[in-house]
Amino acid sequence: MRALRIEAVGQVSVGEVEDPVAGPGEALVEIKAAALNHRDLWIKLGQYAGLKFPCIPGSDGAGVVASVGPGADPAWVGREVIINPSFNWGDRDGAQGRDFAILGLPRDGTLAERIAVPVGQLAPKPAHLSWEEAAALPLAGLTAWRALFGRARAEAGERVLVTGIGAGTALFALQFAVASGNETWVTSSSDDKIRRAVTLGAQGGFRYDQEGWLDRAKERGPFDVIVDSAGGAGFGHLLDLAAPGGKIVFFGATRGNAPELALRKVFWKQLSLLGTTMGSPGDWVAMTGFTALHRVRPVVSEVFPLERGAEALALMERGGQFGKIVVVP
Ligand SMILES: NC(=O)c1ccc[n+]([C@@H]2O[C@H](COP(=O)([O-])OP(=O)(O)OC[C@H]3O[C@@H](n4cnc5c(N)ncnc54)[C@H](OP(=O)(O)O)[C@@H]3O)[C@@H](O)[C@H]2O)c1
Repeated sequence: MRALRIEAVGQVSVGEVEDPVAGPGEALVEIKAAALNHRDLWIKLGQYAGLKFPCIPGSDGAGVVASVGPGADPAWVGREVIINPSFNWGDRDGAQGRDFAILGLPRDGTLAERIAVPVGQLAPKPAHLSWEEAAALPLAGLTAWRALFGRARAEAGERVLVTGIGAGTALFALQFAVASGNETWVTSSSDDKIRRAVTLGAQGGFRYDQEGWLDRAKERGPFDVIVDSAGGAGFGHLLDLAAPGGKIVFFGATRGNAPELALRKVFWKQLSLLGTTMGSPGDWVAMTGFTALHRVRPVVSEVFPLERGAEALALMERGGQFGKIVVVP
């Protein structure tokens, strides 16, 4: 089959690889569409834990079950599915266990024509979504859902701020917050992305790359829940934007560590700083159910054929996307 491989740091190729085989309890899925996450880029750049080359990256996929391995229910064959990329979460909802893994390193991922995964990772493709939209949902939808509802416990009517709205994860946080009745604001480095966020239900947004944005944001705040994945020097500003008793939930550090945190602001304002990663099986069921109930449609920024997968990664590297970058084999 054809697959995209990362051969070594910075080296992407598309070519023939051996077909996967469904092992015991597994299904072989013909991929109709896959989607990128920032993780795939970190792997390409050599900035991810547990690197192993060559590898087929890709955590998001949607497709049709072609066959099943020994012991797997044959009723899966022919079904249209999406794949939960959160493997071996473990027994506790509060945090993943030691065997936790994300699809697409160390296990081969979805940027290929076919993939073998345990049937327990499969869920029916949401009927209201196209293949491209369905592929865009799993990892970013799961992460955003747990951040907003599982960890920050956002309630209808609360004011929510989502930073860096161009990010795939950030857009899901916006869409989920709007669907659950939250007044939602965004930040971005692009006026166009803020305009597009408003068409998705955001009240408005702030240019985090412009002088004075913090003051403008304070006028519209404070915010009960702030969802961030950028970290870096700007993270400290979020303490000023949070309402007393507010929650700042984060799952990424695209801009690196926060250089210094004003701890006095954290305890005086009774803030909660909440780390989160991916999601438990319960989060997955809740997220897919919420998406179907509210007919949330993932925002697809661009669709690339597999052969042009390297260009798709380059688009992500320059932050040119608004929403998910989809790759079709
Ligand atoms: N822990 C987990 O489970 C988990 C899961 C998913 C993602 N992540 C992490 O979360 C981050 C986002 O992932 P993704 O796949 O959604 O990324 P992505 O689609 O590549 O998003 C990148 C976006 O980050 C925003 N950004 C960059 N610098 C910023 C800054 N200084 N302040 C605010 N926003 C900034 C930009 O938004 P604008 O274009 O609007 O400026 C950019 O479009 C990555 O670090 C990723 O590794 C973690």
